[in-house]
Amino acid sequence: MTRPRTVFAALASGLVAAGTFAALTPTADAATTLGAAAAAQGRYFGTAVAAYKLSDTVYAGILDREFTSVTPENEMKWDATEPSQGTFNYTSADTIVNRAIANGQKIRGHALAWHSQQPAWAQNLSGTALRNAMVNHVTQVATHYRGKIDSWDVVNEAFADGSTGARRDSNLQRTGNDWIEVAFRTARAADPAAKLCYNDYNTDGQNAKSNAVYALVQDFKARGVPIDCVGFQSHFNAASPLPADYQANLQRFANLGVDVQITELDIEGSGTAQADSFAAVTRACLAVTRCNGITVWGIRDTDSWRASGTPLLFDGNGNPKAAYTAVLNALGGTVTPSSPPVSSPPVTSPTPSTSVPAGACSATVSVNAWTGGFVATVKVTAGTAAITGWRVAATLPGGSAVTSTWNATAAGTSGTVTFTNASYNGRLTAGGSTEFGFQGTGTAPGTTPTCTPA
Ligand code: G3I
Repeated sequence: MTRPRTVFAALASGLVAAGTFAALTPTADAATTLGAAAAAQGRYFGTAVAAYKLSDTVYAGILDREFTSVTPENEMKWDATEPSQGTFNYTSADTIVNRAIANGQKIRGHALAWHSQQPAWAQNLSGTALRNAMVNHVTQVATHYRGKIDSWDVVNEAFADGSTGARRDSNLQRTGNDWIEVAFRTARAADPAAKLCYNDYNTDGQNAKSNAVYALVQDFKARGVPIDCVGFQSHFNAASPLPADYQANLQRFANLGVDVQITELDIEGSGTAQADSFAAVTRACLAVTRCNGITVWGIRDTDSWRASGTPLLFDGNGNPKAAYTAVLNALGGTVTPSSPPVSSPPVTSPTPSTSVPAGACSATVSVNAWTGGFVATVKVTAGTAAITGWRVAATLPGGSAVTSTWNATAAGTSGTVTFTNASYNGRLTAGGSTEFGFQGTGTAPGTTPTCTPA
């Protein structure tokens, strides 16, 4: 998705941007973001999120524009949430969860019981002491997030790689073979509304490891052990490519009466080959009725745990890659409301305003426009005094409409649309600024938005 940039900036001093815009093109119905396109298919499109990156406006902008589900990448793991036994720290995970709730995004909890990323104290436990610690951990964390989690990875990566189909040896496994079902029963008691998933890698096609997971799910269903879903991590590269029987494997699990989810998708590579694989994964999920959604394991290539493999949908600058377009198209969406994107004529630059009074705020807008659509990025700046919230009113030309908003909440979609700060960007220091954005069909606001402290 490369859009020729036509940018104008208008400062909030009552100036009106001069100039005319391209004639309106009727709105296309196809969704223009991953989340909206997936929603039209009854599914979510999610990403792993790292709490410390949320202050990065490019990162947060893409997150809120494109994704309808989030998975904390590390913040809910045992080492993060219970750094010393019985002392729980939810600060980073809560940041992600509260932000997702405010933005209407689902949350995948990851992960309650796992052999890896255990705090040192747990690594040093065994037997009954470890079993009890695990049960307490699952209870405490699932209770803390009770009612907020769409799906929990209750147990992560409990089977060995290779041809044995055996359980992975771990301190948890050595507490007894029933540790997995105990974790699931404990999670159900703590948060009855969450879907409870088993999550693993190298289970994406039919093989000894996935057969072993299949047998576990079959056994749980037969004995009434609570399990609702199986997560397929789907980390692919040249050594571990997308299996030809990917869809069939998802389907055989679904046939056991569980939902299936693609939970950590990334595909190393570039260009058409990478895009084709991403599209194939997307089509496989859409073809399996019980496939609830897809989560990619990070936003930009540079956010990936395998950054050198450039395995994600956005490049390091936040630009969508061919793989993005392929996924969006596979979901039935299109990159822009009309194509090809055509830049609107440059607009005469207004004279900048330099002073904003105390207790006031100003709004500056820059626009990327093409025939039939636009993205507007609005910079909100406090005056000479700090403010604790803001509202920006932008008036759209007749026939134009806001289709999505990030880093703010929009009231209305046409005419004068009022954007209110999100929970995390309302407070501005004197002279401080923040940005929000919105995408629309038709033409961008032709007049300067007004900013009011709230
Ligand atoms: O936070 C510390 C930082 O303070 C320190 O300076 C730095 C030095 O290495 O490490 C930072 O922690 C790292 C953490 O990621 C946050 O970046 C850990 O060392 C590193 O081990 C950790 O890696 C995570 C990995 O799980 C650990 O197993 C990756 O971010 C995360 O993407 C990855 O996710 C896993 C899923 O949970 C399960 N499936 C496989 C997947 C990929 O490995």
